[in-house]
Amino acid sequence: MIDLHSHVLPGLDDGSPDLESSLAICRMAAADGITDMVATPHYRNGVGVHDVSVIPPGADRLRAALAENGIPLVLHAAVEMPLLENYLELYRDGTWLAYDSARRYILLECPPLPVNGAQILSRIVEALLKAGAIPVLAHPERLPFLDRIEDVLRLRRQGALLQITAGALDMHSSSGHRAREWLSRGLVACVATDTHGVDRRPPRLSPARAFLASHYGPLLAETLTETNPRKILAGEPVD
Ligand SMILES: [Fe+2]
Repeated sequence: MIDLHSHVLPGLDDGSPDLESSLAICRMAAADGITDMVATPHYRNGVGVHDVSVIPPGADRLRAALAENGIPLVLHAAVEMPLLENYLELYRDGTWLAYDSARRYILLECPPLPVNGAQILSRIVEALLKAGAIPVLAHPERLPFLDRIEDVLRLRRQGALLQITAGALDMHSSSGHRAREWLSRGLVACVATDTHGVDRRPPRLSPARAFLASHYGPLLAETLTETNPRKILAGEPVD
C-alpha cells in the first residue's frame, strides 16, 4: 500500500519530533504493509517549514537511516500546502512540491472557509487546474461546507481529487458520514494516514483497507490504497 500523506520527517512540523520517532513511524508503516510513504510536511501555518528546500535533504537523511536500520520503506517527499493568498505563485515558482516529477499532483490542505466555502474552493480548484496542477484535497471530509453533495460532485467534475483520512472511515462523526457517503458514490480517489506519530493518526492503512473491502468491495479497497496512489506518484491520470 502507498500512503500519500504523512508528517514523518523529523523536526519540521507538528509531526515527528526526532529521528527515532520517524524510524518508529516507518517501522510501524512497513509492518502494516505500507511499501511507500510520502512525507508531506506542513508549509508555514504556524508549525510548518518556511523554506521547502529543507524537505528533500530531510527526506535523504531519513532514507539513509531507513537503509541503515533495514526498514523496507520507500520514502517520497512533497508538501502539504495550506490555502495562502499567493497559492498560484507558490505552484508556479515550484514552492508547492508535487507528488510527481511532472509536477501535476499537489496536496492542498483543505481550508476551513466560511459558509460559501464550496464556491471559493471551486474557484481555487479551477485556477489551479488552469495553471496545470491537479489538486489533491487533504481531508475534505472535515469540511462542513461540503455537506451538499452537489458541491462535491462539482469539485470532482472539475478534476479535483479527494483524499480521505484513513482514521475517519469508521468514525461516528459528521466527518465519517461525509467520507462514507462519498465512498458509496465513488467520489474518493485515495485514503491516506496523515500520520503525525505512532499514537497520533498511526501510520496504518490495513484497517482502512479491510473496512473498504468489507463495505465497498476489494477492488475499491485496492484502488484507494494502492492503484490510485501509485498513479498519482507516477503523474498518470486517475479516473
Ligand atoms: Fe497533514
